[in-house]
Parts: sequence; C-alpha cells; structure tokens
Amino acid sequence: MKIGILGASTMGRGLIQHCANCGFDIIYRARSQKSVDSAYQYVSDQYDFMISHGWLAEEKKAENLARIKGTTDIKDLADVDYVIEAAAENMETKKELFKELDSICRPDVILATNTSSLSITEIASVTNRHDKVVGMHFFNPAPVMKLVEIIPGYNTSDATLETAKSVSEKLLKTPIVVKEAPGFVVNRMLVPMINECVAVLAEGIASASDIDKAMQLGANHPMGPLALADLVGLDICLAIMETLHSELGEDKYRPHPLLRKMVRAGKLGQKTGEGFYTY
Ligand code: CAA
Repeated sequence: MKIGILGASTMGRGLIQHCANCGFDIIYRARSQKSVDSAYQYVSDQYDFMISHGWLAEEKKAENLARIKGTTDIKDLADVDYVIEAAAENMETKKELFKELDSICRPDVILATNTSSLSITEIASVTNRHDKVVGMHFFNPAPVMKLVEIIPGYNTSDATLETAKSVSEKLLKTPIVVKEAPGFVVNRMLVPMINECVAVLAEGIASASDIDKAMQLGANHPMGPLALADLVGLDICLAIMETLHSELGEDKYRPHPLLRKMVRAGKLGQKTGEGFYTY
C-alpha cells in the first residue's frame, strides 16, 4: 500500500519515519524543497538513532529510505492508496488541501486527517467523498505512542472506519473510535491540564522544572507537562485551547495569556529552540 503524507513538520516526519518502517511505500509532500530535504534528513538521522540503540537492524535503514519519496507537488499523490494529512492545524489550510486531494486522488481513496481538534465533518464538506474522510489522530512522538484516535465525521462510512482501524493496526497502534467532539478524548483532557500548569507557572507558585518534577514524581507522568508542551509545540497547544474555548464556550478552556504571549514571541518549544526550556 502506498500512503501519501501531507506535511513534513513534527507529526508529518514522525509518520514518514514510522509508516516506512512498517513496510508502507511513502510519498510525502511539503511546501518547499528545503522542508522536503530537512524531513528526509531527519528521518535518516532517526533511523541512525534507532540503530545506535539496537531498535532497528542496520540493513533496514536503506530498505526504509528506498520506500520514501518527497515532493513539493501535491499532484504527485495521484497514485496513492491512502492519505494521511498532517499539515498545519488550521481549518482553512486543511480545507484547501482536501479540496485539492479530492480532485487528485482516485475516488476510492480514503483521506485521513491527523487533526488534533478540528471538525472532520467540516473538513469533509469541501470534498465529494464525505464517506471517505476520517480523523486519524496520532500522538507525538508518532513512532512511539501507541494510541490512534479514529474519528468519524457525520457522513463517514463504516467501511472507512474499518479501513482506518486496520491501517492503524498495521502501524502497530491501538485504535479507539471517538465521536467527533472538540479535542476528541486525549486533548480535551491533556491540553487544559497543560494550560493549568502554565497558570501555576505564571502565578509564580513553582518553577517550570519543579512543576514538571511534581507531575513526574507525584503523578507518575513519563515527562512533565511543560516539557511535553515544548515537545508538542506551544502553537499546537494554543490552537487546541482556542478550539475547545470557541466550540465549548466555557471559561475553563480559556488559553492562559502567558501561553498566548509565548506563541506571539515565537517561543514554540523544541522546534524553535526555546519554550519553557531552552534546547
Ligand atoms: N523512533 C522510534 N522509536 C523510538 C524513538 C524514536 N525516535 N525513541 C524511542 N523509541 C521507542 C524505543 O524503541 C522504545 O521502545 P522499546 O521499549 O520497545 O524498546 C520506546 O520508544 C521507549 O524509548 P525510551 O526508553 O528511549 O524512551 P523514554 O522512556 O525516555 O520515553 C517518551 C520517551 C516515549 C517520549 C516518554 O517520555 C513519553 O511517553 N512522554 C510523553 C509523550 C506524550 O504524552 N505524548 C503525547 C503528546 S499529545 C499529542 O501528541 C497529541 C496532540 O495532538 C497534541
């Protein structure tokens, strides 16, 4: 099966790495040649990292890389069998992409979106295949995290859901089917908690590293929520809070002003070299 992946940023490149490692042929599309090249280099470096830890056999690296092709032209996705979109978390961007994909891909091809909080029904509305659009929400780091939230839109067919579940399983993930709702399950709970940690930090109750230590040692989290926010991207956390706030309308989902200020300052976390920590 050949999978088309849209976007080569944090989630896109993790998916390229993982899908190729699970035996799928991959064509990924980024907007600039620079992003295409940097994603390829990232994936190659990740395979080296995995080899050095004994997680990947040395000969698998060349095999995996031979299955991966990058492009800047979305029309190169014309012959894919399945699409996973992992572009910017913005409704207008996703609608533009889905409209184009709908005109390029075979009519039987399922178009999955890795959105972390947006409406699948609204994304599907710009296509002529409402039954074949589905949410497939992976978690960061994509090669490691075991869960995939599968989200049907209003018109998504049962056959599409079954295929999305089966693709998840071939990617060695555990799928759960979640009704369309802002933030689905994980982000509805996780991101407000991160937002609350930002409030605790802003109120001077504890330092960033002590807040993280508290949740690691006091609640057994594998990494602290502020370090996790840096991993996920503060822009993504803000976008999710904004969706929760505008869709659910409750004050408890109001993004903390410090989160907003940091995003405005370009302190997005690991990807910009600075967030709650410096990288
Ligand atoms: N590529 C492939 N596999 C990797 C890898 C990589 N870069 N890094 C680690 N792994 C695999 C290893 O093979 C290892 O597997 P085995 O146990 O089978 O050997 C496993 O991952 C664990 O590796 P480590 O022991 O090195 O990792 P760790 O124990 O330090 O854990 C972590 C690292 C998994 C990131 C852990 O800190 C963690 O779980 N953090 C929380 C992550 C999280 O909550 N993510 C969700 C964010 S929310 C989101 O993504 C949704 C959204 O929409 C915003």
